[in-house]
Amino acid sequence: TNGKAGNIVWHPRSVGKVHRQELLQQKGCVIWITGLSGSGKSTLACALCQALYSTGKLTYILDGDNVRHGLNRDLTFKAEDRAENIRRIGEVAKIFVDAGIICIVSVISPYRKDRDACRALLPQGDFIEVFLDVPIEICEARDPKGLYKLARAGKIKGFTGVDDPYEPPLNCELALPPKGNSCASPSEMAETVISYLEEKGYLQ
Ligand code: PPS
Repeated sequence: TNGKAGNIVWHPRSVGKVHRQELLQQKGCVIWITGLSGSGKSTLACALCQALYSTGKLTYILDGDNVRHGLNRDLTFKAEDRAENIRRIGEVAKIFVDAGIICIVSVISPYRKDRDACRALLPQGDFIEVFLDVPIEICEARDPKGLYKLARAGKIKGFTGVDDPYEPPLNCELALPPKGNSCASPSEMAETVISYLEEKGYLQ
């Protein structure tokens, strides 16, 4: 659609995605990391960014906490605001993919339909959903920001996993940590993601 305003015509450009990807020697894609608060999404995103940077690949991280300081500062944690948070992040990620960049998204994104809507924005294969499958007991024991404690004390209402839903992916590209290695480190998990990217031709 051409938006609410109407009368908007797409402006064609002479340098396109193909040229940018050739310049960067990589293919743009989204690595969408979903999971509970404290599951290690931001840590994995950083490990991935660092490992790819060291091999000359351009990434950009969109982290829920950070994006909520700016672009999404008007949004709360009620379901429709979480949906809008994810929709905007999905649209921004789509622009990064068009730029030829590997966009690493780390957001709880608790609703399947919101994640699926972002997947639908992108060409087949370019949305790589990574489920950080860490049980709530472990996330809660870590409680890096003390938020589970506040949620259990009733001081935060609608906290994901406590009194708000989290819908795990049904068909994600990768679930981490890998079965049989629940102690995998962030850099080991980053390597698993990188192997996937290599296999699918995103690193050329
Ligand atoms: S969402 O659900 O995708 O819109 O959330 P996201 O943008 O990723 O933001 C999650 C971070 O916000 C903090 N926080 C909460 N999380 C869940 N529920 C409630 N009610 C809430 N209130 C604040 C929390 O620190 C999340 O950070 P992470 O990095 O996931 O721990």
